[in-house]
Amino acid sequence: MLHGYWLRQLGITGEYGMRDIAPDDLPAFFAGFGAAGYVGCNVTVPHKLAVMKHLAEIDAAAQAIGAVNTIWTDNGDLVGGNTDAAGFVDNLDDRAPGWNNEAGHAVVLGAGGAARAAIHGLLGRGLRVSVVNRTLESAEALARHFGPSVRAHGMEQGAALLGEADLLVNTTSLGMVGKEALNLDITGLKPAAVVYDIVYVPLETDLLKRARRRGHRTVDGLGMLLHQAVPGFQHWFGVRPAVSDELRALIEADIRATSPGA
Ligand code: ATR
Repeated sequence: MLHGYWLRQLGITGEYGMRDIAPDDLPAFFAGFGAAGYVGCNVTVPHKLAVMKHLAEIDAAAQAIGAVNTIWTDNGDLVGGNTDAAGFVDNLDDRAPGWNNEAGHAVVLGAGGAARAAIHGLLGRGLRVSVVNRTLESAEALARHFGPSVRAHGMEQGAALLGEADLLVNTTSLGMVGKEALNLDITGLKPAAVVYDIVYVPLETDLLKRARRRGHRTVDGLGMLLHQAVPGFQHWFGVRPAVSDELRALIEADIRATSPGA
């Protein structure tokens, strides 16, 4: 829907569709990529690592995050990148302008793939990051991977860190429709802090609702989904598309129609 909207809006002849490729079929898929008419693709679970060996080049973000989500062609060569960190930060710039003016410290909940993208983006903006995760070892692995600007903490330390946080980010699936609730007490959060939830079903999570009622600026996950798509489209079709209110409303309406509880 997202890429189809931009293609129509910009009058570009092209198509963005879905292909179900089994892991064993990846080599044949990439061997015949250009001949099949593809200019690029997104990849998702379980291919985000496995695609790397089929690519001529992997961009710095994908290397740092350890996953490819977008592939494009450059002079016939396949190049893999990761647009999640850029999408994460571009969405913050869009929805909470000026958030980075004095922001020094972010608390990131979760230590999975989404957390890696968020941390890469935040380090790029000069922040220090405290990773808070149920499994302390996973948070510690991220701290080792990203270096001294990233500290690891267990879930029980989460609330206590919030008094020093300029930005609170949820990258876990907690609070998503059908998942457990995110039970984090945010009453101690610095009043000026921005709260960002990458969950987008529901569009406004319980965390964002509580934060909004306490007067925090909030940023939702749908914007990250929209913004991470921008660089891919630009690589494939040569035009940088805009994340407009109209596009957002279109995708919001689709989520409301297809996801009960959204
Ligand atoms: P993704 O790659 O999309 O980020 P993931 O790798 O499955 O997803 O990561 C999920 C994150 O949510 C992890 O940080 C996970 O914590 P653990 O490392 O302890 O598994 C966190 N998470 C998922 N369910 C959770 C729960 N019920 N309570 C606390 N954290 C949870």
